[in-house]
Amino acid sequence: MAEHKLKTSIAILGCGEVGSTLAYTLVLNPICGEIIMVDPKKALLEAQVRDLSDATYGGRSGTKVRAGTHKDAGQADVVVITAGAKQKPGESRLSLLSRNLHIMSSIFKNMQPISPTTILLLVANPVDILTYFARKLSGLPESQVLGTGTTLDSARLRGILAEKAEVAPNSIDAYVLGEHGDSQFIAWSNASIGTTPLHLALPVCLTPEFKAEIATHTRGAAGAIIAAKGCTAYGIGNVAASICKYILFDAHTVRPLSFYQPELGCCLSMPAVIGRRGIIRKMPVQLNEEEQTELEACARGLRAVLEGAEKELSA
Ligand code: LAC
Repeated sequence: MAEHKLKTSIAILGCGEVGSTLAYTLVLNPICGEIIMVDPKKALLEAQVRDLSDATYGGRSGTKVRAGTHKDAGQADVVVITAGAKQKPGESRLSLLSRNLHIMSSIFKNMQPISPTTILLLVANPVDILTYFARKLSGLPESQVLGTGTTLDSARLRGILAEKAEVAPNSIDAYVLGEHGDSQFIAWSNASIGTTPLHLALPVCLTPEFKAEIATHTRGAAGAIIAAKGCTAYGIGNVAASICKYILFDAHTVRPLSFYQPELGCCLSMPAVIGRRGIIRKMPVQLNEEEQTELEACARGLRAVLEGAEKELSA
């Protein structure tokens, strides 16, 4: 048996800003025996593997970093897909679709046969649409295909609410749901600080102005970072590393991840329990009427994009 099969492994497809930041996060917080980096840009791939390996030699990380092929990646415990075009300043995540769909379709061809126990974690954008197609192209059961979704948007929401309420972000329980993109919405009716409903803990949050300010901040957070530095990497790298850990540790952690919602006919983020088998189960969420309307509008928008993309993929 090849040596790498004896180790817990995470394959990272794409070793640009996001892929290498994720790898570095996993080197500093080791959770697997091996990280397999894959990228068609050979010189960049070799350089990233060397640089990341240097970070493993001096420290306490037992994780080995190596370059691999798409075929090797198909045997990993978790495959994280960061490969693809990234947003230019002012561009929406959805505008990347055509480019990234074609990249993903060729990745899946090269990865076959994929191990039946592999979990696919989509990071590349538009993540909800790519997660939908990853299910079809990989042939894996839908519970094993998930996207980072609104986990990062929810972290950003907790960050800004924490500042307003002067409490630590991890004392806030609040979710952004739906699309990791412009049609996302905040489940205000479920938000709390500790066990106190948000509207009691922070009465100002009842005002429409406050809600609009926070929603604009959360929706526009990535765009503002991209405008200044050309990409986002640390936030998403940290989110992806945490999700890898929940999977490998079979942690049964609840996070808003993008996965297939049969009743809505698309992938979008709703809270789910994640573990070694991927999405263990969806957590029921009680949305108020306004939030339910936002969810349905979000799903309608994503379905329309899926229809166009299905045509493009089959052309
Ligand atoms: C962001 C990218 C990952 O929101 O979409 O930072």
